[in-house]
Amino acid sequence: MSTLASHEIWHKRLRKINNRVEEINIPEDIETEADQDEEWCEVVAENKTKRIRFHDYDQVFQIPGLYEKLFYDTLECCSPSYVVNLLESVADEWESDLKSFKVLDVGAGNGMVGDELRHHGVRKVVGIDIIKEAKQATLRDRPGVYNDYCISDLTALSKNDENNLREHKLNCMTTVAALGYGDIPPLAFLQALDLISTPAWLAFNIKEDFLHGRDQSGFSRLIRQLIQEDHILPLCYRRYRHRLSIAGDPLYYVAMIAKKTRPVTSEFFEEYR
Ligand SMILES: C[S@@+](CC[C@H](N)C(=O)[O-])C[C@H]1O[C@@H](n2cnc3c(N)ncnc32)[C@H](O)[C@@H]1O
Repeated sequence: MSTLASHEIWHKRLRKINNRVEEINIPEDIETEADQDEEWCEVVAENKTKRIRFHDYDQVFQIPGLYEKLFYDTLECCSPSYVVNLLESVADEWESDLKSFKVLDVGAGNGMVGDELRHHGVRKVVGIDIIKEAKQATLRDRPGVYNDYCISDLTALSKNDENNLREHKLNCMTTVAALGYGDIPPLAFLQALDLISTPAWLAFNIKEDFLHGRDQSGFSRLIRQLIQEDHILPLCYRRYRHRLSIAGDPLYYVAMIAKKTRPVTSEFFEEYR
């Protein structure tokens, strides 16, 4: 399915949400060079105007429809459907059926990736996010999408949460629009990778700058090292337009589909602690 076709389906699904947003204003004098974690806008909802920084997800998720209207309508983000479509297409080539996937959706937010996975036939999806507002928004806007939804910091996972997540016997991990920028750090990514079985599928996206040698987020080194030490086998690497910036410029990300091929060793963990 083309990205465009799947975008239309998205719009149909989003109409089901009880949208409370009347207006989104992106100030004209905003610094056009602002990095993604500095972007903000003014939102009019229920007769109140509020200034919200895009990366303050706790505030974004509390206003029904804001996340969808801001990122998917205004800034034309396509990543949940893009990454899940790519996962399906690569899995298909390797004669794997998404119906047999049990997915850990890392940085699940208000459930857009889980929703997409369900529409592709995935029967089990478990979400994890660091803020309670993400789970509350999911239950409010997309009830029933996740079989389980854990609120936890993956870099400090309790034994109880870890055991619970392992019991789901997950064989796939997705993480969309959540790596880097003060969101999910390399150690959390590794911890999530450790929670899924071996072998398992991986589908994630990341800003292309975070894969360059000069990257400061740690992801460039992590991904390279995971590949070099045979922890993951990359199957597909695709550059695409994730969304527009507030200035209307394209922001390019890379979507990667890979297989986890060996358990994460304790030596590997130690390097990222
Ligand atoms: C841009 S949202 C993406 C949500 C969803 N994956 C999507 O594509 O619509 C990023 C999410 O990552 C979550 N996040 C940030 N840091 C995290 C961490 N250390 N562990 C788990 N989730 C985290 C945020 O709370 C937020 O819900």
